Amino acid sequence: MAQLDILLAPDPRLKRRAEAVPQVDRNVRRLMDDMMTVMHDANGIGLAAPQVGVLKRVIVIDVSRPEDTPQPYRMANPELLWQSEDTLTGEEGCLSLPEQFGEVTRPNAIRVRYLDENGESRELEADGLLAKCIQHEMDHLEGTLFVDHLSSLKRNIILRRMAKTKRLAAAG
Ligand code: NI
Repeated sequence: MAQLDILLAPDPRLKRRAEAVPQVDRNVRRLMDDMMTVMHDANGIGLAAPQVGVLKRVIVIDVSRPEDTPQPYRMANPELLWQSEDTLTGEEGCLSLPEQFGEVTRPNAIRVRYLDENGESRELEADGLLAKCIQHEMDHLEGTLFVDHLSSLKRNIILRRMAKTKRLAAAG
C-alpha cells in the first residue's frame, strides 16, 4: 500500500481546488482504499484527497462508531443536488487541524450525486452527522477548511496555533 501522509494546515496544497476524475479506474479505487485506511487509522470520520496531497475530487467517509457496523462511503466527483433550509450547528474538527475545533453552521440535510468505487452514479440523501461530514469533505475539494467558516479572529488563533505546532515539530 502506498504510504499516504495527512497534510497539516497551514499548507498551500489544502487551499487549492481539486479536479474531477474522468472515471473511477483502478488507481482511483486504490486511492479510495488507501484513504479509508489512513482515515480509520487516524480515528477520523472523513478524509478528502487534497488532505493527502492528491488534488482529485475524491472523498471517503465513515461516521459509524467503532462499536457499530462500519458504514463506509467512497465518493468521486460528489455534487450537491439539494440542501435543506434548516441548519445544524455543531463542533467540527479536521485531521489536517488536529486538536482544533470550532462551531460550524451548515444545512441539516442534503442530497448528493457521486460515483461510487465501481464507477456507478449514485444519489444519497443524508442529514445530521453524515450530512455535516459530507459537506465538510466537499469543502476540502474547493480548498475550504472548517476554520474558513469561523470568524477571522477564531480562524487566526487556530492557524497561528497550528503554525507554531508545525514549527516545533519540524525543530524536533
Ligand atoms: Ni477536514
